[in-house]
Amino acid sequence: MDTALPNDLSAYWMPFTGNRLFKKDPRIVVAAEGMYYTSADGRPILDGTSGLWCVNAGHSRPEIVTAIQEQAASLDYLPSYALGHPKAFELANRVAALMPGSLNHVFFANSGSETVDTALKIALAYHSISGHPERRRLVGRSRGFHGAGFGGISVGGITPNRKHFGALLPEVSHLPDTHNLEENAFSRGQPSWGVHLADSLETLVALYGADTIAALIVEPIAGAGGVLVPPVGYLERLREICTAYGILLIFDEVITGFGRLGAVTAAEKFGVEPDMMTIAKGLTNAAVPMGATVVSDQIQTAFMNGPENVMELFHGYTYSGHPLAAAAGLATLDVYAKDDLFARADSIAPYFEDAVHALKDHPHVIDIRNIGLAAGIELSAGDHTPGARGHEMLVKCFEAGVMIRVTGDIIALAPPLIIEKNQIDELVGTVAGVLETLS
Ligand SMILES: Cc1ncc(COP(=O)(O)O)c(C=O)c1O
Repeated sequence: MDTALPNDLSAYWMPFTGNRLFKKDPRIVVAAEGMYYTSADGRPILDGTSGLWCVNAGHSRPEIVTAIQEQAASLDYLPSYALGHPKAFELANRVAALMPGSLNHVFFANSGSETVDTALKIALAYHSISGHPERRRLVGRSRGFHGAGFGGISVGGITPNRKHFGALLPEVSHLPDTHNLEENAFSRGQPSWGVHLADSLETLVALYGADTIAALIVEPIAGAGGVLVPPVGYLERLREICTAYGILLIFDEVITGFGRLGAVTAAEKFGVEPDMMTIAKGLTNAAVPMGATVVSDQIQTAFMNGPENVMELFHGYTYSGHPLAAAAGLATLDVYAKDDLFARADSIAPYFEDAVHALKDHPHVIDIRNIGLAAGIELSAGDHTPGARGHEMLVKCFEAGVMIRVTGDIIALAPPLIIEKNQIDELVGTVAGVLETLS
């Protein structure tokens, strides 16, 4: 056995993993740099998914590593309850400056799931303190993914993530998702069919009354649900309906934030401004866990009433604004700016689009969809158990030196924004080769 391998895999209950199958044939990774991981047996593995849609600037960036090391040696930790350190404020200011319009207030958390919980709680509290405590209904969307906390799985729409966990949050509804192979298969960028699906929010308004609905949360691009790109006009229509009925619009930009679509955010890319946004992942290039809920002036101002000695929001985390994460975040934003990475993603996106759409005639492919540096390649399950082909793809691609993600039988590609054209060829070429070997 390779000496780099751990000798006992049993104690670690791995997240979102088929533990028994994995431990029979583990995929162990020991290092990463730039576009490549290194497996325990010393092979380079091209990162086709930015880790988990998070290492946008590529792995082990020296500037970020140094910032974390220096921070750990100078101020390792400080509670952020009624105390502050400079870098948390600096990072909040830098993030606010990157956000569209009036999204100027940054509440730090440690993960995407926590940012979603934070956003949902702020939405409910906002209506409550504004004299509308009856606005309690939260609306999500089928196939939506908003993390693994109870808030996120309640508004989320991926069935296995919800099914064994009891009643979840009360007063939650879901819009239909925008996935439709008859109408939209093989769309490049935003599909032209489907704007009318946004109108189902009006159906909920008619059913429950607008004055009972607190907020709608959607991912501008549904990632974990299978890379679903919003139809032309769809997000704009959601914005119109929310504005008309006083419903807060939350964009979950945990995967779309920081350049995935060739702009800072999907909000910027599509020109649609939400009332709150959740970000994480690319905020620190995943080098230290951190997320943030970014809130509009109007919402934050509503909380700044009452006696000054009373906390405005009874919410927070021990590690909110953690010094190491703040240092990593600042260094990450510097890297994005220095290398102009969001513009780079935008300029290489057409090459990526052509490359992934060339997979169309390979076996089992029933749809390819893409936007920015994200693509979904959907396979038919054939007469296999749903998800079996997807898993076979994942395993065989790893063996062939490429890391992909799968949701069921949908392959997701979302490489770091530093990817070069020859590496796009390597990524897509490997996927093409493995497709030919599937049963
Ligand atoms: C859109 C979206 N929201 C929330 C999350 C949850 O983030 P985390 O795993 O950091 O809690 C994810 C994770 O993939 C995500 O894709």
